[in-house]
Amino acid sequence: MQNARNINWENFQVSREVRASRYGHRSLAVWLTGLSGAGKSTIADRLEGQLFEQGIKTYRLDGDNVRHGINRDLGFSIPERSENVRRVAEIAKLFVDSGTVVIVSLISPLLGERAEARAIIGGDDFMEVHIDCPLDTCEDRDKKGLYKKARAGQIKEFTGISSPYEAPPSPDLRLDTKSNSIEQCTENLLHSVIQRIL
Ligand code: ADX
Repeated sequence: MQNARNINWENFQVSREVRASRYGHRSLAVWLTGLSGAGKSTIADRLEGQLFEQGIKTYRLDGDNVRHGINRDLGFSIPERSENVRRVAEIAKLFVDSGTVVIVSLISPLLGERAEARAIIGGDDFMEVHIDCPLDTCEDRDKKGLYKKARAGQIKEFTGISSPYEAPPSPDLRLDTKSNSIEQCTENLLHSVIQRIL
């Protein structure tokens, strides 16, 4: 919904195409979805490090981090998660326009909200990656101790326990972090990203 009236669209002299030509690569939103503890942030960080090493312009948008700032007013109800995803998609779109490979690590649990993210960013610029790990493995890892709290009823609406996670039926890429090492998953992802931006 748009509330503002009497607004125009300004075209910029330094366009996305000009930026791509200067930087020597296309831009892209790499959207990592998956359960808490599946490995999204770890893989996002490794991927960014390796792209950055190669001189690619990169940035990361991470769920935990954006919830400290622009999304600090949002909790974990379904409508608030959807708003979280929508705002991050809009920010990611700006980064794509700026010529950056933006790596998003967000649970983004619902099919509908990821479809909206794809629609906001545009299919050509959106790469959906399922960081796939069974719930019981994520729960065993419990790096942040949140599953334990969720099971004890200390965290409400926790993804996978008391709030849904809808796995993507046909992501651009699926990385199985139970059976494969973080290094293997990152290598696989890096290869796919490079193919799309060079
Ligand atoms: S999303 O569902 O709205 O996409 P997001 O990725 O921003 O979630 O935030 C998830 C992070 O918030 C988790 O990694 C975890 O550290 C923390 N968190 C706190 N409460 C919850 C909860 N109820 N469900 C899931 N994650 C939670």
